[in-house]
Amino acid sequence: MYSLSHHRHCRLLFLIVLSLSSIIFFSLDASFSPFFLNFPFRKAGNLVFDKDELIRSRIAVCLVGGARRFELTGPSILDMVLKEYPNSDLFLHSPLDKNTFKFSLLKLAPNNVAAVRLFYPAPLPENQSYVRVLTAQNSPNGIQGLLQYFNLVEGCLTMIKSHQQKNNFTYDWIIRTRVDGYWNGPLGPENFVPRHYLVPPGSSYGGLNDRLGIGDITTSTVALNRLSLIPQLDSLGFEELNSESAFKAQLTTQNISYVTKRLPFCIVSDRRYDFPPDRFSVPVGSLSSPGPLSGAKCRPCTRICHGTCVNDVMVNLDKDWSWTHYENGALELCDAREEWEDGWEKIFDRLVGKKFAKARKKVHSMKFDECVEDLLRFKKRTAYWDAPSVEDICKLGFSES
Ligand SMILES: *[C@@H]1O[C@H](CO)[C@@H](O)[C@H](O)[C@H]1NC(C)=O
Ligand SMILES: *[C@@H]1O[C@H](CO)[C@@H](O)[C@H](O)[C@H]1NC(C)=O
Ligand SMILES: *[C@@H]1O[C@H](CO)[C@@H](O)[C@H](O)[C@H]1NC(C)=O
Repeated sequence: MYSLSHHRHCRLLFLIVLSLSSIIFFSLDASFSPFFLNFPFRKAGNLVFDKDELIRSRIAVCLVGGARRFELTGPSILDMVLKEYPNSDLFLHSPLDKNTFKFSLLKLAPNNVAAVRLFYPAPLPENQSYVRVLTAQNSPNGIQGLLQYFNLVEGCLTMIKSHQQKNNFTYDWIIRTRVDGYWNGPLGPENFVPRHYLVPPGSSYGGLNDRLGIGDITTSTVALNRLSLIPQLDSLGFEELNSESAFKAQLTTQNISYVTKRLPFCIVSDRRYDFPPDRFSVPVGSLSSPGPLSGAKCRPCTRICHGTCVNDVMVNLDKDWSWTHYENGALELCDAREEWEDGWEKIFDRLVGKKFAKARKKVHSMKFDECVEDLLRFKKRTAYWDAPSVEDICKLGFSES
């Protein structure tokens, strides 16, 4: 599919370094990268596509999750992911609530909008298989919360497969990420690794960080089938898994190799966490952190800890749990014991610059009519729209309650 002849020329070199490269695939640690980047096999193994080639390939971007703080995260997703791959197709899968109208920001996406599915949330059946395999521990809404999340992710794959079938083609790449991710740098072409599923390092909670994934249709079919693969994990005897360990089990049992690379996004969270975090609690990064934070939790705050203070805190964290890379000043911490501090809007605006601040203010001061107008523009661009009317979505956001 991609420059096969070039691949053949380089096969010998590729074989020589195969053992070495597999060490690197599984080393899962960015401390290897400087050494890794100096090696010529990066080209020989065709591990990385150049940007132009990648932009010409067929890419699906699948966004999942609730729109809670999309006025903060949306503009960064537009700039750092969607605009980086303007020929990609956008898929959106999200439960409806009073924040859904914030997706009207997506009217500015340069991409083809392939499918949008917005649904009224309803409980999913919890059968014996799910109850045996999953644990309610550390999940804010128990097993039901996990099932809802798995359903969101798997639903994206369903939409993507249906779009492929209708149009008789297969995607080369599927990028799955969350609508609550704030990106402070672009998604680079080095994150598309043939025959491997790419996930961020850190925040692995005993398994694999499941806050973003990139793979082809084969690896993505395994990675995104989060509900369907549970009965299989059940028959293999897996028990008490959280989201991350279930994710790891489904990849390894299906023989999908994975690779980790640090990525410049964090998950904007309203939840409160202990400070300072102990071995198994969650560090919350400040949005001012240079990163890459690889999907760690964050919020806009006055940083309470940076430099050596961060080292002192982070050495206490379990490496296989909420730990994340913090070397070289990458991470600055918030005290997240309370709600977001007064004046967080100013902190956010100052940090992200005029353009993103403008989007935040626009959503903040939006009125019903503007909501309808913007959402209609987004809907008109969408090939498959499975959602209530835009009036109903705007009513959810603007009716008094
Ligand atoms: C649980 O539900 C899933 C999906 O409906 C199904 O595939 C599985 O066989 C069920 N397992 C049990 C034990 O009922
Ligand atoms: C789908 O594409 C394949 C190869 O590109 C072609 O052979 C086939 O006829 C197409 N099918 C339809 C229904 O268009
Ligand atoms: C994965 O590999 C193992 C060992 O090679 C094999 O026994 C198993 O059937 C494979 N599983 C799948 C789903 O391909």
